[in-house]
Amino acid sequence: MTDSIEFDLIIAGSGLAGLRAAIEAAKKNQKIKIGVIAKTQVMRSHSVSAEGGTAAVIQEDKGDTIESHIYDTVKGSDFLADQDTAEKLCHMMPNEIFQLEHWGMPWSRQENGKIDQRNFGGYSFPRATYAIDKVGFFEMQTLYDTCQKFDNIEFLNEWYITSIVHDGKQFCGITAIETSSGSFYTIKGKALIIATGGAGRIFSYSTYALSSTPDGLDMAYRAGMGLKDMEFVQFHPTGILPSGILITEGARGEGGYLINKDGDRFMKKYAAGKMELAPRDIVSRSIMTEINEGRGFKHETGEDCMKLDLRHLGDEKIKAKLGGIREISIKFSGIDPADEPIDIRPVCHYMMGGIHTNIDGAAELQGVWAAGEAACNSVHGANRLGANSTSECIVWGKITGSLAVDYIEKDHTSAQFPTHLVAAEETRIFDGIFRGRGDVNPYEVKQEVAETLNAKAYVYRNHNDLAEGLKKVRELKQKTWKHVDDSAKEYNTNFQNVMELDSMFRVAEVVLLGAINRKESRGGHARTDFPTRDDANFLHHTLAYYDPSEPIMKKHPVTITKYKPVERKY
Ligand code: FUM
Repeated sequence: MTDSIEFDLIIAGSGLAGLRAAIEAAKKNQKIKIGVIAKTQVMRSHSVSAEGGTAAVIQEDKGDTIESHIYDTVKGSDFLADQDTAEKLCHMMPNEIFQLEHWGMPWSRQENGKIDQRNFGGYSFPRATYAIDKVGFFEMQTLYDTCQKFDNIEFLNEWYITSIVHDGKQFCGITAIETSSGSFYTIKGKALIIATGGAGRIFSYSTYALSSTPDGLDMAYRAGMGLKDMEFVQFHPTGILPSGILITEGARGEGGYLINKDGDRFMKKYAAGKMELAPRDIVSRSIMTEINEGRGFKHETGEDCMKLDLRHLGDEKIKAKLGGIREISIKFSGIDPADEPIDIRPVCHYMMGGIHTNIDGAAELQGVWAAGEAACNSVHGANRLGANSTSECIVWGKITGSLAVDYIEKDHTSAQFPTHLVAAEETRIFDGIFRGRGDVNPYEVKQEVAETLNAKAYVYRNHNDLAEGLKKVRELKQKTWKHVDDSAKEYNTNFQNVMELDSMFRVAEVVLLGAINRKESRGGHARTDFPTRDDANFLHHTLAYYDPSEPIMKKHPVTITKYKPVERKY
């Protein structure tokens, strides 16, 4: 018999999307009980690491337009974005910038006191709203602070959700382990918003927090919901060596150069109109082409890399606008960017794919929504533009928070809570993992999975590499990694690590299968054996559904409203 708790609305994840959803729901109905449940402490959510900006049109007086934000987003997506969804993002964002401001967000200012914006890749107007280069930190602080005003939001920090419970028709609750006690709980609820973020730790060279494993995606997948477009992984051009920590695109937005070993600003060959501020997929491919053709640098670790040069910006500007990345660079690579160029290479930074939702964030189970990076509402298609991610979290946090309340108010309490599913989950977790015994070190296996993805599904891909990657991941899955050496109940991070690895296998398989099947190059998915975009055969989304033997792969149409797909030129 498990312990049991009850909320009306359960929000899984306490990053930007989760907090924005909680506020919207709490504002709309102060009587409903909201539980925000996450495996980290709130201010340890990966959203805190967002650096450079949040995209929105707030300078129409200076010539920016919503239409241009929409088109930049759709073109940036390599025409795989659902265009109605991109329209929704761009129309809703301006108000959200001012809403955040009213809640206390310390946006950086122009000399005249108005909110400032900086340039970012792929935009035709500088529309990345920023707060130095610590946007995520300040947005999180603002939203967390605002949550404190509502008595009906409760935080369960450091709880690991293991499954979604449903009666075959609608959502009924979740199962979760309270990390501090190790106790297994049933948490009943009427509605669920999944806002567990991205899963970029399935790659070894990654900007993500170590907690960014696919548990949230996987619980939806195991519960029968589709994962969409998982083959589209974003490699940000500037991960600092050796750690992979993000060096914000804001560094190039403020005027930084990318240079090869001949001292050339090589982007003039690849995107003469935008140079270093082309969309990320293009800049990352350009860096790798330069490296592959012998014009890169060797880092002391032996890694190939390129240089990001900020010296010409001057000490004062670097300190004032890029103080965060200056500190990161000094602490993690020993280089002050005011004095020396930084060593960078493309790094896993974002997943365009996620839990399949419609334009309103509704997933495929009644009573479940997904928002933020965990969701794939198809706003970013095959390649996200920088600064559109924090925007997405805020907009769909708000939308899903509101819709979940409408749903709860209609009362969909399940006639019978499916307790047999809780019992089955307890067996899967405790007998299948916690009490499992084996010879293989799960930490080494976790690292091997992530290194395999990095080696076989990086910026440039081909069939042989992807197929080898899939074979390797499946071989690793067959090993006896499912065992936990630490038998403690309290704070058993060893146990949590093995549960995370369990989710990595299923999601890595979907990424690789999707990439093998997509025999074209589009956005973040570049195949050397199929180097061009193929709209005739692949202008569709990919869906993957869980099956114990192998994922079931399907197609889903792209919504095109008014922008006919054309060749992308920058
Ligand atoms: O480069 C950056 O600051 C990242 C922003 C983003 O991913 O949106």
